[in-house]
Amino acid sequence: MIISEPSPIRASLSKQRCIEPGCRASYGINERLYVCSHCGGLLDVELSEEPTGDAKSLRSLWSERRRSFDMPDLSGVWRFRELLPFGDNPPITSLGEGNTPLYEGPRSASYCGLDALQLKHQGCNPTGSFKDTGMTTAVTQARVLGVRLLVCASTGNTSASLAAYAARAGLLCAIMVPQGQVSHAKLAQSLDYGAKVLEIEGNFDTCMRVMRDLAQDESIYLVNSINPFRIEGQKTVAAELAEQLEWRVPDHLVVPGGNLGNSSAFGKGFHELLKLGLIDRMPRITIVQASGAAPFANLFLKSERDLTKEDQSFDIVNLDDPHTLASAIKIGAPVSWKKAWRALRWTGGQVLTVSEQEIADAKAIVGRDGIGCEPASATTVAGIKKLVAQGAIKSDEHVVAVLTGHLLKDTDYVIKYHSEQLSIPWEGIPEDEQRIVGHFSNQPEKVEASQSAIKKVLDRMTKQS
Ligand code: F0G
Repeated sequence: MIISEPSPIRASLSKQRCIEPGCRASYGINERLYVCSHCGGLLDVELSEEPTGDAKSLRSLWSERRRSFDMPDLSGVWRFRELLPFGDNPPITSLGEGNTPLYEGPRSASYCGLDALQLKHQGCNPTGSFKDTGMTTAVTQARVLGVRLLVCASTGNTSASLAAYAARAGLLCAIMVPQGQVSHAKLAQSLDYGAKVLEIEGNFDTCMRVMRDLAQDESIYLVNSINPFRIEGQKTVAAELAEQLEWRVPDHLVVPGGNLGNSSAFGKGFHELLKLGLIDRMPRITIVQASGAAPFANLFLKSERDLTKEDQSFDIVNLDDPHTLASAIKIGAPVSWKKAWRALRWTGGQVLTVSEQEIADAKAIVGRDGIGCEPASATTVAGIKKLVAQGAIKSDEHVVAVLTGHLLKDTDYVIKYHSEQLSIPWEGIPEDEQRIVGHFSNQPEKVEASQSAIKKVLDRMTKQS
């Protein structure tokens, strides 16, 4: 079934606008910029006009499209194209991203001290992480602009996603990653999808700096989340989640924080849904960082600033040497922190940190729900547990944790945890505190290949259950 209503957004009239309150400079939608030319501020895509039709008709249009087998209706991003700045018939590159499940996590809930906990599993995207929801729009915009070479800096997931979408679009891509700091699975994806992989000595922040400089060159298109078209795709997850909840928003939405594009996108997404009358309040966005890579949490905890004020003239203190085994979020200089701050302001949000031990245990618990996620994603469950213990989240509140990446993204970590070999050997941690304890470890058992030996193990198993 083809739903032929044209997108009501007129892309040519949409704009890019600087988010800095004192600037607000605007640029054409197809100007290739990553930051404001006047003040260096981050840019937002601003839709030219609100989608025509009331909330009810938009909801039913989006719901109707779920019965369609046509592209772009099959994509959980393009299904919400009224929220996107592309107009009619853009050259879409899609792998059928989005439409990810919202699971109940009963074991995770009781671990956290909650009556219930829902897990929005963005790891169920085509390349196994949430990045795909933004990559489809960024690569589509690259095609609108007619660029041939796409680049990104990455801790592994953005690069895997870019590599796949560039391959689908028949475009070239080069990714820059910190050598030895990206999981094998993520690296394997980028290689298989044919990306040029550039490994550098340094960390993600070094890669990001180099790539931003390189992207001054007109022939190169940068698709990190500093690119506002990435945020546009990722913001549709807010609509998808609201739809899954029958347009009732949760009390708390909890996301991991690295470069802070995802939290920014959720903030923008929910803000726009509220303006369109599709939801009647904002969820409180909670951002969780690993304690060794927490420049944004430091800013939040130290800052006396009133979240209700628009003033963003203060600055974050970046970390030169961030540390965490959750390699996806090992970031010391988060590019999108001002947009993430805005998301906190819009939603009355909060930021906290969790330890490596807390992340590792929470990850194992998510696994016990039969879902599984990568370490960075488990910061959410670890953070929720902490907030419930502090009384900042009540046991009967409606909480959704966003799982950003799939369990299979980092199996080295999983095997080490379950075999009690996970450790944090970085400077400043005394040797006797370096070991991560596998509180929920599940070790393989060597067994003789005989019926009786196996039966013994199985009997023990049933007795212990
Ligand atoms: N979770 C996962 C699995 C990630 O890969 C990332 C970021 C985050 C959370 C943090 O999201 O940066 O939007 O705050 N990964 C980037 C990458 C940096 O290169 O793959 P964020």
